[in-house]
Amino acid sequence: MALLKVRGFDVHKGYLDAARQRALIESLRGVLKAAPLFSPEVPGGGRMSVRMTSAGQFGWFSDAKNYRYTEQHPAGQAWPVIPAEVLEIWRVLTGLERPPECCLLNYYGEGARMGLHQDKDEADFSFPVVSISLGDDGLFRIGNRTRGGKTESLWLNSGDVVVMGGAARLAYHGVDRIRFKSSRLLPKGGRINLTLRVVT
Ligand code: SIN
Ligand code: MN
Repeated sequence: MALLKVRGFDVHKGYLDAARQRALIESLRGVLKAAPLFSPEVPGGGRMSVRMTSAGQFGWFSDAKNYRYTEQHPAGQAWPVIPAEVLEIWRVLTGLERPPECCLLNYYGEGARMGLHQDKDEADFSFPVVSISLGDDGLFRIGNRTRGGKTESLWLNSGDVVVMGGAARLAYHGVDRIRFKSSRLLPKGGRINLTLRVVT
């Protein structure tokens, strides 16, 4: 385990050992059963290449109109609760009393990526976003608080946890590509990223 600082992001390399990664995947099975993955449409047309779902009071959602938080899965049911194992990571790493209200689960299959963006659909940017990586390696890119300029890339491996807080809370970030089947955590391959957010 090692803590790297990359442009204000706290990157906890190897924060979760193999046993905790497996336990986390187990706890996510229930989430995926109650709230199956879907491929969100994006404003301007097309769909994201990642598939996603959420746990918590709010889920992050996107369609042809806009990006927003919703209280229901697109199929109509409430989002499932955030697993205790996930909440524990937030509590220990942020030291905050207040729990996250959204755990967004992004699944990257072969060829999936996520363009540079800011997380800015939340009401209060003084709360950090915590990101947990599981499964295949992902090439994470960090930019600036405004579009453009130099960026820095690092590989996130299974078990890495990133805290995006302070001045880095509104930094552009994205995932250029994954190394499909680089990990054996998920039987069918792919990468899961969980991001925990206080929404309101
Ligand atoms: C995100 O920004 O929502 C996902 C980041 C990641 O997949 O590491
Ligand atoms: Mn993001």
